[in-house]
Amino acid sequence: MKTLLTGGAGYIGSHTAVAMVDAGHDVAVVDNFANSSAEAIARVEKITGKKVALYEADVADKERMMEILKTEMPDCIIHFAGLKAVGESVAMPVEYYRNNIDTTLTLLECMRELGLTNIVFSSSATVYGEDNVPPFTEDAPKGMCTNPYGWTKWMQEQMLTDAAKASKAECDRLKATGKEAGANEWKAPLSVVLLRYFNPVGAHESGLIGEDPQGIPNNLMPYISQVAVGRRDHLTVFGDDYDTPDGTCRRDYIHVMDLAEGHVKAAEYAVENKGTEVINLGTGSPYSVLEMVEAFGRACGHAVAYEIGARRAGDVQDSWADAEKAKAVLGWQASRGIDEICRDAWNWQSHNPQGYKK
Ligand code: NAD
Ligand code: WQD
Repeated sequence: MKTLLTGGAGYIGSHTAVAMVDAGHDVAVVDNFANSSAEAIARVEKITGKKVALYEADVADKERMMEILKTEMPDCIIHFAGLKAVGESVAMPVEYYRNNIDTTLTLLECMRELGLTNIVFSSSATVYGEDNVPPFTEDAPKGMCTNPYGWTKWMQEQMLTDAAKASKAECDRLKATGKEAGANEWKAPLSVVLLRYFNPVGAHESGLIGEDPQGIPNNLMPYISQVAVGRRDHLTVFGDDYDTPDGTCRRDYIHVMDLAEGHVKAAEYAVENKGTEVINLGTGSPYSVLEMVEAFGRACGHAVAYEIGARRAGDVQDSWADAEKAKAVLGWQASRGIDEICRDAWNWQSHNPQGYKK
């Protein structure tokens, strides 16, 4: 299968590129390096021993995307490209809506014109909102998002779902009337897989690729890693007065290589099916902030310094997946636990203390 990964130089995209090649599929990557570097793809090639076609382009640039897609004509597009920092999205909503929404609309227009039908989308557990009780099942109602980033995911899910529905209706109508599809008509029904990730963490076991946040990390695991390697003094734990066994929030931390392998299964599923499928990618097991801090200490061989601070605005107490649908539909489940997560995150961080910067 030929796959095209938008945002494929980023954290999850680069790991998925490795998993795709390992599964015997061809990979092309489109990235504008807004939050990544070409070095990640050079490392993917080093790990796999295979060439990855790399295009530097903005996915919202339709002319350029038409050229690239005509060249590649992928069986499946995996759409990772997007801006993802929750706090930044609150300060820069216009940029977040523009980038995240435009990339998806541009892809849909190109797919329609070229007759490409299969797309897997990076969504997020954030669309469940605050009112659901974990474990979250895919049919739980989507909630009110607490930030513009979350809304962009919510909206992109809706846009893709609506496009899949319209493509089916249009193809049925054309078939009934015996007419050919025009330039702006769907040539075949779309197949959309919306993957709702929980908390992706860890790194490829080689230590060659991993998460490389710019500036101060927003997320727990890269922050812990940078404390452990001496780049930062201590972690601030955002609140220890939640109604949980140790008072800290619980999350479903999923190894990024498990997540990557889930994308292989999702892309294979997308090419065999039509319509829209929503699937959680999580482990189904929650861990608290302090459990993660302790696990990392075991992996790196010394305690990770932390202080208890105030709650962070917008945090939910508990979030974890019901992971049964992924097992039933994709035949996939996470196999790596928190000790492997911390071992691999530490291997990456300790061998690349400044990330991809030499
Ligand atoms: P990332 O920032 O490492 O990767 C995103 C990539 O997209 C980057 O390489 C960036 O340069 C690229 N990009 C952004 N806008 C682009 C554009 N207009 N054109 C071309 N390239 C563009 O982030 P990630 O953690 O790998 O996340 C990948 C996807 O998964 C994102 O859509 C993100 O919202 C989603 N997601 C991430 C998490 C998480 O915790 N990491 C959780 C849920 C969902
Ligand atoms: C995890 C836990 C924090 C940092 C975010 C996005 C979500 C998704 C994944 C994209 C929480 C605590 C954190 C720190 C801490 N991204 N923490 N000190 O908030 O579950 O999810 O990333 O879709 O949309 O919101 O992940 O890693 O930021 O936090 O105590 O310095 O760690 O309070 O309980 P979160 P996280």
